[in-house]
Amino acid sequence: MSSPDPTAIVADTEGIIREWSPALADFFGYSAAEATGCKVDMIVPHALRGRHWNGFDKAITTGSLKRDGKPFTVVALHKNGKLVPIRAMLQLTRSDDGTVTGAKATILGRAPAWIAPVARAFLALPGVRKPAPNKHA
Ligand code: HEM
Repeated sequence: MSSPDPTAIVADTEGIIREWSPALADFFGYSAAEATGCKVDMIVPHALRGRHWNGFDKAITTGSLKRDGKPFTVVALHKNGKLVPIRAMLQLTRSDDGTVTGAKATILGRAPAWIAPVARAFLALPGVRKPAPNKHA
């Protein structure tokens, strides 16, 4: 049986992965069985986790996204520890009555490989390395 969306990561309001398309093993190294039930920050580089969670929690609480459905480039953390530049977009998920049930990331493809070493150098800067305080830490 194939998933209707081969590139989706669906998380609940706590950021726990509820759906992980099997094809994402090619991008991040984790099978659906490994990823489901984990927090989405397993694929967020450490230095970006604070910003990710602050943005995530704000989106869940307010019911709106800064970049609703707009493609962006970001570096993800592969299971093997390497940085993977990707193109992605975010949407909120809702129940029939409109209540926010979580967030969905659609992985659109790979971004150029040269982004990884540039991102690694940036993330290694002393001021960047410290994750911002967040309730998931
Ligand atoms: C692939 C690795 C990821 C990285 C590096 C990452 C990083 C970030 C960063 C830096 C922000 C803050 C953006 C800002 O302040 O403008 C953010 C926001 C956010 N992230 Fe992540 N994230 C990742 C994966 C995910 C996944 C898998 C989901 C959900 C399934 C998710 C959901 C969100 C949401 C909902 C926001 C708020 C966005 C908005 O308001 O437009 N992220 N993330």
